[in-house]
Amino acid sequence: MHRIAVCPGSFDPLTMGHLDIITRASGLFDEVIVLVSVNMMKADFSFSLEERKSMILSVTKHLSNIRVESFDGLLADYVKQVGAIAIVKGLRAVSDFEYEFQMALANKKLYDGAETVFLTTAAENMYLSSSVVKQIANFGGDISHFVPEQILDDIKKRLVKEK
Ligand code: PNS
Repeated sequence: MHRIAVCPGSFDPLTMGHLDIITRASGLFDEVIVLVSVNMMKADFSFSLEERKSMILSVTKHLSNIRVESFDGLLADYVKQVGAIAIVKGLRAVSDFEYEFQMALANKKLYDGAETVFLTTAAENMYLSSSVVKQIANFGGDISHFVPEQILDDIKKRLVKEK
């Protein structure tokens, strides 16, 4: 059996935290589809869908079982469509739990054929999020420890305000 997992998110932009989860998921499943999805709670994106996809592609090149796709419908429908057996998400702290638990239950209700699997975030990425990266970059702070080196310049170009 070819075991496919979907790793969904906004990835606006991808952080070291995301890359860690994607990398660990690639070791657990035969194929991992990193799915750039739409979060209706986040209306303003800093990067286009294509930019987000191409950033993910460039930092996962070395992982042979990763595919990068986008989808603007329900995650549960996509998971069913591709025959995935798992939705992989990273779980940071207590604050993530309620929202993630709610989504996992809703997705299970919508499609019973896949499990949501939570990977605990590496301790050094505990505080990290795309929003934190955007805030720090916006005010001219150093984000080099928070995002992969290959995409650092692209992210800075877009987010660091000219003084
Ligand atoms: O990185 P994010 O923004 O926390 O990821 C959230 C995301 C995109 C995975 C979630 O909003 C999602 O699954 N969106 C797709 C639409 C959907 O299925 N929504 C209902 C989830 S219960």
